Amino acid sequence: MRNESPVYYDEKAKIWDVFLYEDIVKILKNPKIFSSERKNKNIPTSNSIIAMDPPRHNKIRALVNKAFTPRTIQMWKPRIEWHIQKLLEKVQDENQFDIVKTIAYPLPLTIIATIIGVPNSDMDKFREWTMSIVSGPADNSKETIKENTKSVYKGFKNLNDYFAEIIEKKRNEPQDDIISVLINAEEDGFKLSNEEIIGFSILLLIAGHETTTNLITNSVYCFLENEPLLNQIKQDPDLLPKAIEEVLRYRSPVHAMPRIVKENTELRGQKLKAGDEIVLWIGSANRDENQFDCAEEFNLQRTSNSHLAFGTGIHFCLGAPLSRLETNLVLLELIKRFPNMKLSTKHTIEPLQSPLMYGLKKLEVT
Ligand code: HEM
Repeated sequence: MRNESPVYYDEKAKIWDVFLYEDIVKILKNPKIFSSERKNKNIPTSNSIIAMDPPRHNKIRALVNKAFTPRTIQMWKPRIEWHIQKLLEKVQDENQFDIVKTIAYPLPLTIIATIIGVPNSDMDKFREWTMSIVSGPADNSKETIKENTKSVYKGFKNLNDYFAEIIEKKRNEPQDDIISVLINAEEDGFKLSNEEIIGFSILLLIAGHETTTNLITNSVYCFLENEPLLNQIKQDPDLLPKAIEEVLRYRSPVHAMPRIVKENTELRGQKLKAGDEIVLWIGSANRDENQFDCAEEFNLQRTSNSHLAFGTGIHFCLGAPLSRLETNLVLLELIKRFPNMKLSTKHTIEPLQSPLMYGLKKLEVT
């Protein structure tokens, strides 16, 4: 598609697909013409910063930024390490275990839920609700799509009701967590509304969980399928941050994100009208040969790796330092505890059923 139809109108879905790195960066850096607003205003995250344009986006981002600076995130390091130890201890003597179930799923969920201020006892409910939101339909039949839409709405409603209750409690009894910070956050007389706090909490839960699960899983997968790479990292663990950046490019956990055209405009000769919907395929941009030499190869020696896995521009991922830290710590510990770890030959690799995410259903290792 990048060569033949880099800007393609999908007649069936009535959506423009954009595939090239250069075009996607141009769009992400021009929120005046390419808006982040969602067409569907009935879902709670349509009230959150990811779906907002300036000037409101700038105000809210300034408030929430404070909780996500690299320095603040470093303060979570001992807690993250503690959880990694606890989770990996459980499989220390197993001959075989699933990376997703053992660590890649429970760790980010536990960490983000703790940061938000949600009790650990509610974890399983979260898994169920977030999964019902991010999983795509199993096939393209009308019935399946209808069922999937229903389950997405149900997931959002459950999360919405849950957070409304939690916010009410924390208004009366503030604690050391993000919801309490957001309830009281104020800048130049500006405060967040209840709906905005709910939308932001749900966004953090979804954005901060499934994505990092996929980054951890994709990293283990990339390293175990490439023995020379794994040996290099084992010999020099300082290479890990660079290797994780290459995983972000090569197997991007988020594959696509939406925008809406605000003013009539043109892209590679195609006429885009105000109101048109666009999907930006960052998974494709990250394999764009015009931007990356030998883009289809995993290459630890890249001198520059300006991938778009965390987006770019004003909506650049708020949680990037957190997910990089979690993934780095997990991989360090896996290498240390299981130096002879290998992919299980008995299991096939099955990608998630999601049009927006790239991850694996499970990753069995021995
Ligand atoms: C935004 C990817 C982890 C919170 C984004 C965007 C991408 C992204 C591509 C830009 C969306 C857009 O421009 O429309 C990822 C990936 C992650 C990850 C690949 C893990 C590997 C996290 C974590 C958190 C988080 C751990 C929270 C703790 C957010 C938020 C935004 C965002 C709040 C919206 C920022 C804004 O609109 O200003 N993320 N994310 N993400 N991400 Fe992440």
